[in-house]
Amino acid sequence: MMEFIKTGVIGHPIAHSKSPAIHTYWIRKYGLTGSYEAIDIAPDELRVRLKGLAVAGYKGFNLTIPHKIRVLPICDEIDATAKAVGAVNTIMMENGKIYGTNTDVFGFVENIRTNAPDFDFTAGPAVVLGAGGASRAVLQGLIEQGVSEIRLLNRTRDKANKLANDFKFIEVFDWSQRSAVLEGANLLVNTTALGLTGQPALEINLSKLDKAALVNDIVYAPLHTGLLEKAKANGNAFVTGIGMLLHQARPAFERWYGILPDVDEALEKKVSG
Ligand SMILES: NC(=O)c1ccc[n+]([C@@H]2O[C@H](COP(=O)([O-])OP(=O)(O)OC[C@H]3O[C@@H](n4cnc5c(N)ncnc54)[C@H](OP(=O)(O)O)[C@@H]3O)[C@@H](O)[C@H]2O)c1
Repeated sequence: MMEFIKTGVIGHPIAHSKSPAIHTYWIRKYGLTGSYEAIDIAPDELRVRLKGLAVAGYKGFNLTIPHKIRVLPICDEIDATAKAVGAVNTIMMENGKIYGTNTDVFGFVENIRTNAPDFDFTAGPAVVLGAGGASRAVLQGLIEQGVSEIRLLNRTRDKANKLANDFKFIEVFDWSQRSAVLEGANLLVNTTALGLTGQPALEINLSKLDKAALVNDIVYAPLHTGLLEKAKANGNAFVTGIGMLLHQARPAFERWYGILPDVDEALEKKVSG
């Protein structure tokens, strides 16, 4: 009989998560038996609850805000990518041990590779807005793809300075320079919360951005953010943020079920809606 594999996503809050829709779609599509639950765990209870879930036979979890850093000391082992990013978004539970990895890096890179197949990461500098948790995965992805000049800007400059210590090839600029630093850039990525539904708009002028440059917003609600509308009006190709969410889920699913699932149109439609 086929093994019933129990997995899920842990966050606080977690009701908004699109991950259950993604993973249950794949469980059905590939004819597997398993479950993917959304579990709300308060930060202080994470260690105890994770140990309990391991004993209860869960195979693994995705972790989201606010647990990605807090889970690091709870893992028995973390891989090189999670170490480089400084955060874990996926865990595997095997033989009473917890193994951590980070699939956000893969998600970020694969989203661009799939949706802008002709884009050459190495063709010039990348501008990255934001120095929060997601920015770390984006920076690691850019470095892995061979980008050797990254212009980093964050409202709180100290946080960008800290990332410049942790990652190679970063030059920090003042947040007020965000329109000026676009000159000569090959890629612009927004990793701030600006443009997200309920958050202020990202104020930026793209006139200095080369028409051949690619624009990526990792915010995916709304799908077509104000930044992407500006990119379109400026004549730039752009990639939305939903693919990062979809693609980061693939290696996690593979770790648990042994199948690397694909992102098909029906799934994209289901999750973008
Ligand atoms: N597509 C995906 O799969 C994916 C994955 C992860 C995250 N995301 C998106 O990425 C966004 C950031 O996530 P995160 O985990 O990095 O969050 P985070 O750690 O809380 O970082 C938030 C970032 O947004 C900046 N920010 C917030 N309000 C701002 C404002 N009013 N003006 C200027 N900057 C502001 C922060 O700057 P300060 O440092 O100055 O506060 C910081 O750089 C989320 O909104 C989410 O939509 C998408």
